[in-house]
Amino acid sequence: MTLTKVVGAFCGALLIFLLGGWAAELIYHTGGGHGDDHQQAYVIETGNDEGGAEEDTGPSFEELFVAADAGKGERIFNKCKACHQLEEGANGTGPYLYGVVGRDVGSAEGFGYSGSLSAVADVWTPQNLSAFLENPAGYAPGTTMGFAGVKDMEDRANLIAFLDQTDGDTYEVEVPAAAEEEAPAEEPAEETTDAEASEAPANDGAAAEDAASDEAASQEPASDEAAAEEAATEEAAADDSAGGFADVVAAADPADGEKVWRQCRACHKLEDGANGVGPHMAGIVGREIGSVEGFRYSNALQELDGTWTADELNAWLEDPKAYAPGNKMSFRGLRKEEDRAALIAYMQSAAE
Ligand code: HEC
Ligand code: HEC
Repeated sequence: MTLTKVVGAFCGALLIFLLGGWAAELIYHTGGGHGDDHQQAYVIETGNDEGGAEEDTGPSFEELFVAADAGKGERIFNKCKACHQLEEGANGTGPYLYGVVGRDVGSAEGFGYSGSLSAVADVWTPQNLSAFLENPAGYAPGTTMGFAGVKDMEDRANLIAFLDQTDGDTYEVEVPAAAEEEAPAEEPAEETTDAEASEAPANDGAAAEDAASDEAASQEPASDEAAAEEAATEEAAADDSAGGFADVVAAADPADGEKVWRQCRACHKLEDGANGVGPHMAGIVGREIGSVEGFRYSNALQELDGTWTADELNAWLEDPKAYAPGNKMSFRGLRKEEDRAALIAYMQSAAE
């Protein structure tokens, strides 16, 4: 009996199914069959198309990174502070992040990693960091970093730019041609002021020699001041043999300096009045130390009097911490004299 019921139920169901199908056929074909039976009547929007289009037209991560604002990134870093410190060796809940951009994954000494990160990446390039920080658990399943992620790409670019300058060694990313637009615009300015650029360091050269011979110093008030400075900061002078550095600046190619400038532009602008994380750099060579209106200097810098001569800049840029202990420019310094010279030549040529 049970079997019959089951078979009966099955047949009934089949019948209803077939009838339903037949009825449906009838309804769909009332418009007249022109052989397109298998075409879908409705295309359902999944939203995939739109998503794809957005990715195509929006700026790439690289473009955002090159134009990133480290100042804004510093604010986003507040989200990380509960677990991460920037100081080298200072591990907390998370590893210290000093110099993390370009660092090997999982390499902070003394930190006990989960192993999930090194399983998916070797080096923290800006791109890898961006992918990780967008969705940590998605990027590195099993990671012990309990953080939801920074969803906005521009926020990540700013944040990574901020992290990048902690060690004074910025990471170069390959940039699509469109993002380099600004470069040609700056070049004409360089050319027109080339003559002046080489004149100014010549003065400093004279000034440096003045330290040795008095007569030259009395010729020009400008060199007087520089000469006095020279005597005041022994270490700066000791760095270079008299006159040596100014000559290097005079001989340097501002175009090389423009590349070095990339390490500064996250915090400094060349345009007069355009203060960022640091004060603007318009006319920096020959400008009084700590003199930009509207910029809040640290006491360390404000208390220094004197002028940013090529030699002073040289000493400052080599090691900002040693030059003015307690200052708030978080930049490790430029080790190579040729980089400092080219950079100063560049800032000088861009100033006018
Ligand atoms: C709740 C604590 C916490 C927060 C908040 C947090 N992290 Fe982490 N982070 C960790 C831990 C823990 C690890 C180690 C993960 C592992 O080993 O899987 C880590 C690892 C990392 C690493 C890998 C470092 C290395 O040496 O390989 C980077 C980079 C990083 N975090 C950046 C950030 C940034 C940037 C933020 C803020 C946007 C942030 N984290 C927020 C806890 C945190
Ligand atoms: C992380 C941000 C940051 C980076 C990168 C940076 N600076 Fe600075 N810079 C500052 C801040 C902040 C100050 C102000 C320091 C203070 O008041 O103690 C400053 C001050 C200066 C001053 C003194 C200006 C004045 O008006 O007296 C000079 C010169 C300077 N920076 C040049 C440079 C150059 C050149 C580079 C690149 C090689 C560079 N900085 C990189 C943040 C930065």
